[in-house]
Amino acid sequence: MKIGVLGAGSMGSGIAQVASQCGHAVVLCDTNTVQLEKAQSGLAKTLEKLVEKQKISADESKQIQSRIQYSSSVNDFEKCDLIIEAIIENLEIKKTVFSQLESIVSDSCILATNTSSLSVASIASACKNPQRVIGIHFFNPAPLMPLVEIIPAVQTGPDTVKISRDLIDSWKKVTVLTKDTPGFIVNRVARPFYGEALRIYEEGIADFATIDWAMTELGGFKMGPFTLMDYIGNDVNYAVTESVFTSFYYDPRYKPSLTQKRHSEAGWYGRKTGRGYYDYSSGAVLPEPKKDDGLGNEILNRILVMLINEAADAVFLQIASVKDVDMAMTKGVNYPKGLLAWANEIGLDNVLKQLDELYNEYREDRYRASVLLRRLAKAGKGF
Ligand SMILES: NC(=O)c1ccc[n+]([C@@H]2O[C@H](COP(=O)([O-])OP(=O)(O)OC[C@H]3O[C@@H](n4cnc5c(N)ncnc54)[C@H](O)[C@@H]3O)[C@@H](O)[C@H]2O)c1
Repeated sequence: MKIGVLGAGSMGSGIAQVASQCGHAVVLCDTNTVQLEKAQSGLAKTLEKLVEKQKISADESKQIQSRIQYSSSVNDFEKCDLIIEAIIENLEIKKTVFSQLESIVSDSCILATNTSSLSVASIASACKNPQRVIGIHFFNPAPLMPLVEIIPAVQTGPDTVKISRDLIDSWKKVTVLTKDTPGFIVNRVARPFYGEALRIYEEGIADFATIDWAMTELGGFKMGPFTLMDYIGNDVNYAVTESVFTSFYYDPRYKPSLTQKRHSEAGWYGRKTGRGYYDYSSGAVLPEPKKDDGLGNEILNRILVMLINEAADAVFLQIASVKDVDMAMTKGVNYPKGLLAWANEIGLDNVLKQLDELYNEYREDRYRASVLLRRLAKAGKGF
């Protein structure tokens, strides 16, 4: 299969690398030629490192590079069997591009979008044959992150789903199937990791360093929420939360945080600006956490039950299966365990008790327990 990738930014160049490493002829297209050159020299550097580490041979590196055609014209997609679009996250632009692509490619060519937050159905609606359109959502960096979310829109044909999933599986990625709903699996289920951590901070229960310590040291997460938000960028992370919140008709479970908004407005994006929740300037000393196990476990449990609740609700609303939700969170964002398996370990009645305590105390819809969690706990079952 010949693969087209539109957009040679962080995602597009990574996806082109993966496809070429798997033996496909690839056309990588971007309207910005500077970006194309950057993608080409970036790939050469990445592959050079892989050769140095003896992960690939010098000959393989040459082959991988030679299989990618860099182009500034979408007309070069003519012979492609599948195109993955990874351009700017803007619905109107994506729709224009999809309609244009359809006029260039063959009738059987699949058109995929790597969108993180837009509706695949809306993008597909721009095409005469929307059955050929699907979401194929990679994680950053695409060559390293194993997870890929496969997102059929309501219009997507079964063959499009099968061919796409089989292809991405053949690239040795872990695929999960998810409904075309805001945030798909990962960006929906992960919201409380940030939102509840921010809420705990706003209530004055603990500072950033202590919350991060609780989640990493006691919870086994690779990064604490504040370190991770600084890494992603508060501008980007805030925008995702806001988009999920508005897309879910202002469900209070996804309510964005003013603390994060102010950090973003101040230009305190995180590592990329040298200042976020923490100070990254040279010589700055990171604050020490308060290593109190009682407090730490209180923080961990509160964030964890909110994450489990979100995972349970995604299953309840048929967004994805139990297996795929757990797979998505361990392979897409490196959670130490699948959230639903974790819930089984803790005991569903225990998770429900903690959620009900939060709900009774705060009287906020944010803390309402998923009906599925309540039903299973009542029946003494697990996920
Ligand atoms: N960055 C991430 O962590 C991440 C993760 C998963 C998905 N995504 C999604 O992937 C897509 C791309 O994100 P990114 O971070 O790689 O963006 P980016 O800004 O790094 O790259 C986008 C590229 O698209 C090019 N472009 C813009 N409009 C174009 C057009 N009409 N035709 C051709 N090229 C065009 C730009 O020149 C740029 O090189 C977005 O939809 C984003 O939501 C991003």
